[in-house]
Amino acid sequence: MYFELTEEQQSVKQAAREFTQIELLPGVIDRDRNMQHPTEQVKKMGEMGFLGMMVDEKYGGGGLDSISYVVAMEEISKVDSSCSVIMSVNNSLVCWGIETYGSDEQKETYLPRLVTGEWIGSFCLSEPEAGSDATSQRTTAIDMGDYYLLNGTKNWITNGGKSSLHIVIAQTDVAKGHRGINALIVETSWDGVVVGAKEDKLGIRASDTHTIMYNDVKVPKSNRIGEDGFGFKFAMKVLSGGRIGIAAQALGIAAGAYELAVKYAKEREAFGKPISQHQAVAFKLADMATEIEAARLLVYRAAWMKDNGMDYTSAAAMAKLFASEVAMRHTIEAVQVHGGYGYVKEYHVERLMRDAKITQIYEGTSEMQRIVISRNILSGQLYEPLWKTDHQ
Ligand code: CAA
Repeated sequence: MYFELTEEQQSVKQAAREFTQIELLPGVIDRDRNMQHPTEQVKKMGEMGFLGMMVDEKYGGGGLDSISYVVAMEEISKVDSSCSVIMSVNNSLVCWGIETYGSDEQKETYLPRLVTGEWIGSFCLSEPEAGSDATSQRTTAIDMGDYYLLNGTKNWITNGGKSSLHIVIAQTDVAKGHRGINALIVETSWDGVVVGAKEDKLGIRASDTHTIMYNDVKVPKSNRIGEDGFGFKFAMKVLSGGRIGIAAQALGIAAGAYELAVKYAKEREAFGKPISQHQAVAFKLADMATEIEAARLLVYRAAWMKDNGMDYTSAAAMAKLFASEVAMRHTIEAVQVHGGYGYVKEYHVERLMRDAKITQIYEGTSEMQRIVISRNILSGQLYEPLWKTDHQ
């Protein structure tokens, strides 16, 4: 068992770290305050290869493994989670979904644009009345022979006002329940795609989140991903990978806040010595370091399982559940270490604390991760019976 990054993974980490300091740190507070989309920064992320990291080189992608991807996500999220969510949706949900389950034509048409950032993608599953309960899709894709007629409304769509491509999950045959759902690739320039209200959010404020309406959009049959009725399983499979990306984002937020807390605690003096030398603060730092390391192990392990062709559904859910709870808990502690300074917007920790909250909500709430994990325990996949009788 190895716990070290390879040379390639180490150089991805270094490149992401330098990129973040040079390109993302300047202006990050203002972009958050003004809900200003990081258009220039996303363009540069595309040039650096951060938008299609795992995509095969033949489509212009980085051809890297999932560990390299989570390492880059972690570094970028230490500073700018608005940028890392754009990166995560494009990499894990859109590019990976098309590359893994799409047709050759879909891959050749869309991946080269998505990996460079010429196009950005959105994943459109959530609806006003179907968030956690993802099988209850009301958006319809009626089979019209050569095409589907798409109608409905999607909520909380990341990149919603900026994306050129949507993967839309919609119900074709209600009688078949989740087996009647399809995943369709929709170009946003097509007639009937309407971008609705932009959300004014607590955190990740520079990322662009919208309601989207589809009014009689004609989607060619060739833009359906996989077989008829594969849409719900597609969404679940893609979200399992997506959860590793969001777990890495949560890990980065926690680690970013921790690094700031350590720095501040060593500099700030109270009662005649740096506050880091007061046990009340030193123990907080010790707890942060320990739990962040535990989260890192879960996140990297889930990515490693994905790279090695193993079933990573539970591992991804555990990584996201734990890392997002750690992010929330320790960004609050990082604000506490900073005292009054932690509560004002010139310091990064209050923003990291606001950003942490969404990691417990999107790509499946903590409660949904617990459903996934507990079902896998009860079905026997995560539980090896040791006690053979009641009285062993
Ligand atoms: N892989 C493959 N198939 C899966 C699967 C997986 N991980 N999970 C479920 N399935 C299959 C099941 O096997 C079942 O198929 P069969 O009936 O053929 O056996 C089918 O899908 C239905 O499964 P369930 O009965 O378990 O479905 P459920 O209604 O009980 O829901 C759930 C399960 C895990 C709660 C699911 O609804 C879920 O994950 N909800 C959360 C939705 C979510 O994550 N939304 C995020 C929005 S996207 C986003 O946030 C992106 C962004 O912009 C940042």
